[in-house]
Amino acid sequence: MSLGNLRDFLEQRVTAALTAAGATDAPGVVRVSGKPEFGDYQANGIMGAAKRLKAKPRELAATVLEHLDLDGIAEVEIAGPGFLNISLHNAWLSEQLNQRSTLLVAAVSSQTVVVDYSAPNLAKEMHVGHIRSTIIGDATVRMLEALGHNVIRQNHVGDWGTQFGMLVTYLRELDDTEGAAGSVLADLEEFYRTSKAKFDADEGFAERARLAVVALQAGDPDVRALWQQFIDLSLTHCQTLYERLGTTLTQANVMAESSYNDALPGIIDSLRDKGLLQESAGAQCVFLDEFKGKEGDPLPVIVQKSDGGYLYATTDLAAVEYRSKTLAADRVMYFTDARQAFHFKQIFAVAAAAGFDTKQVSLEHYPFGAMLGRDGKPFKTRAGGVVKLAELLDEAEERARTEVRGRGELTTEDDINQAGQTIGIGAVKYADLSKNRTSDYVFDWDAMMAFEGNTAPYLQYAYARIQRIFERGEVDLESAADMPVSTLSEPAEHQLANALLRLQEVVEQSVAEGMPHYLCTYLYEVASRFMKFYEVCPILRSEGDQKASRLALCVDTAQVLKGGLGLLGIDTVDRM
Ligand code: ARG
Repeated sequence: MSLGNLRDFLEQRVTAALTAAGATDAPGVVRVSGKPEFGDYQANGIMGAAKRLKAKPRELAATVLEHLDLDGIAEVEIAGPGFLNISLHNAWLSEQLNQRSTLLVAAVSSQTVVVDYSAPNLAKEMHVGHIRSTIIGDATVRMLEALGHNVIRQNHVGDWGTQFGMLVTYLRELDDTEGAAGSVLADLEEFYRTSKAKFDADEGFAERARLAVVALQAGDPDVRALWQQFIDLSLTHCQTLYERLGTTLTQANVMAESSYNDALPGIIDSLRDKGLLQESAGAQCVFLDEFKGKEGDPLPVIVQKSDGGYLYATTDLAAVEYRSKTLAADRVMYFTDARQAFHFKQIFAVAAAAGFDTKQVSLEHYPFGAMLGRDGKPFKTRAGGVVKLAELLDEAEERARTEVRGRGELTTEDDINQAGQTIGIGAVKYADLSKNRTSDYVFDWDAMMAFEGNTAPYLQYAYARIQRIFERGEVDLESAADMPVSTLSEPAEHQLANALLRLQEVVEQSVAEGMPHYLCTYLYEVASRFMKFYEVCPILRSEGDQKASRLALCVDTAQVLKGGLGLLGIDTVDRM
């Protein structure tokens, strides 16, 4: 049996001891300790329990210690006002590491989790604005799946707004020369720009564009065919980028705004039946008491415009119903930028009031900050335009190739290209994943490409270094994988061994909070502890059991780094 979540395991033992000591319903509150001299973990729950019992914390701690069942597992000491410092025994750590399955993420539960991520607007080419949702969402689905959940990816692409009326009208009114549409569509960004200019300058065109949206939404076959042509092309662009980025999204995960079209009249009817609909300035709106403006003025959720058209909000209400009832989700996770926080608050509230969701489903918005340039302003090209994702990835790969070429470890162009791709894409993804999701994120080439610090290249380098140890020692990985970890006599070995056993708890926490940066911070810790171990503990120059044990620690580290990066959607290379 694999150990699973080490922190939870320790906490359960401390909680049980608290109960035995007379403090019921008092959690042990076990945390990783901030400093190695305080042990590996710390239990912080005793002070709170003592306060409620009106007992002296250190006395309660002593009673807890008598009941605590960690014999053979850890040394426990009372510290400060009533903490417990928990230091895992080396023999126990080795024993755990030698059950190889402890280093794999174990399936713990199987909820149906719908993850709504990426979701670009198909009117334009995918740009950096969608990179965060795509990358963070994809790491989350990988972690969820590793934990055994049934994950349903939903790429809620925007394909249904007013912009499409404009684009379709522009496309229709182009000189009907053979192939004109095809060549114009080759650059979606340019196509969008010229149509928009026309839309802004030409009132007649703008009006025809508005009529086209209505025709499109009403199912006019000609308008629909033009629209479909446009959408297919745009989706192909997206798919190319998903593959380049190494995300798990496929065309099968596309559940576009337009797919809810037929459900929208029903949404309006239900709202009306429930008495939630109110007309305001010709539009159909829902007013809920909890949403008021600064002056206390009621803030509506508009669900149908006066011309009959539906809105982003209407579609999202239909999506809530589909995900809760048809897909039977236990949890729906939405990854969008923070500016949509209020939108989702309103949607979740209206859905609850109208009964579009189910009792069991938990609807959760995971907002993230904006992507900024080094100047702290929104990330733009030098000319002030939006940065296309494809161009950004080109540059990442180019920079990584230059770095790899300069280091001289790889010589053939093939190897350099391969490594450049893995390192360049990995750096971009990791830079995003490693920051706290909720803060704005500064895009900085030099920082993300550095081989030092909390970066993908640093982790990939640690992994490659381990491969070099095996090469130099002429040890093959498979035989090393069977060697037992035994001594752990050096503190650096102990530190590393403990870190290796924490993968499960970190992945569980990352998923619970939708915070992939916990996993990044952890992998950085593993790599740093490995580097420390490598510095102070001779590996190939040691002998016998010690050599075997140290080689085994190397294998385990490589496995955790590769597995952990894999959960973030980042590859490794053997040499760099
Ligand atoms: N297409 C939207 C955008 O680009 C994001 C959609 C997010 N998902 C949702 N169910 N609203 O901002």
